Amino acid sequence: MSAALARRGFASDNAAGVHPRVLEAIAACNRGHAYGYGHDRYTQAVERRLAQALGAPDAAVFFVLNGSGANVLSLRAALRPWEAAVVSANAHLHTDEVGAPEAVAGTKLLVAQTCDGRVTLEGVRRLVERSNDEHSVKPGLLSLTQSTELGTLYEVGELRELAQLAHDNGLRVHVDGARFANAAAALGLSLAELLAASGADLLSFGGTKNGLMLGEAVVVLDPALAPGMLHLRKQTLQLASKMRFVAAQFDALLDGDLWLENAAHANAMARRLHEAVGTIEGVRVSRPPAANAVFAVLPTDACERLQREFDFYVWDEHTGEVRWMCSWDTTEQDVDSFARAVQDALR
Ligand SMILES: Cc1ncc(COP(=O)(O)O)c(C=O)c1O
Repeated sequence: MSAALARRGFASDNAAGVHPRVLEAIAACNRGHAYGYGHDRYTQAVERRLAQALGAPDAAVFFVLNGSGANVLSLRAALRPWEAAVVSANAHLHTDEVGAPEAVAGTKLLVAQTCDGRVTLEGVRRLVERSNDEHSVKPGLLSLTQSTELGTLYEVGELRELAQLAHDNGLRVHVDGARFANAAAALGLSLAELLAASGADLLSFGGTKNGLMLGEAVVVLDPALAPGMLHLRKQTLQLASKMRFVAAQFDALLDGDLWLENAAHANAMARRLHEAVGTIEGVRVSRPPAANAVFAVLPTDACERLQREFDFYVWDEHTGEVRWMCSWDTTEQDVDSFARAVQDALR
């Protein structure tokens, strides 16, 4: 068992363990009794703390168990039965949630033209500026992933334009921020600045990929959407009974800006990896790496050799593109020994 757990790799930022300060915070609140379901004073204080850190003291914060749940809950909160969510072709909501938006939220997804993981302004415009009479679904929400599933970022100007277009056409804006911290760190922005730029009405704020054991938060910025959220969270099976242990993890993430330390480190390790593999003959970095992921194409046999020693995913079997993901606990030695192994595998 312990030998299997000693293996290191680049499969995902959720392949990493839990940050020690997060574990300590869980242990620290493991005493006494507290009301369940988030009705304890500690959880409520952490909800307020997260809202403050996001520069949105009036926002309503709802801790949930996982990122897919946060996204689906957001759609359920924002959309009427005849409305659809506009997403990118690579959106986790579209490609990796087993159709939960359709099955659980009853929401149709409209895929906008996508470039490097980002929806284009023109692509969204085409979907939202058409007539949408009663025979077609009506776009009701634009969901943007920041940083994207392809490790790229929306720049602040792009976010502002997209939010403006969405709001001008009566759509709400949702941000899938499973890696919101990585995006803020990469752009040199505070969480509050990034959130303000995105114009979000709802945010799925990630924790699990940034050092938590488990936990995400749905942050509701549009007060019109907040009523009913407590019921919807429970109905979407995202209400933890021992909620204080989720809250404690976010408390630790905010203490001393651990969110930034973890995310900036993961991003720096991806930059190091990019520099180390980018010059190896036979490796083609296939996306502009901006946050904590490196995407590359390499020959299948080299890829298979590497996977005997290191965990990582083949992202696209047809092109041979792989994804190498760095996390809060990726070390310089991890990166350097992996880069040497890539070199060896290509000899
Ligand atoms: C962009 C994005 N959103 C949401 C999720 C969902 O997270 P979870 O696996 O906790 O449901 C992921 C997980 O990979 C993700 O990458």
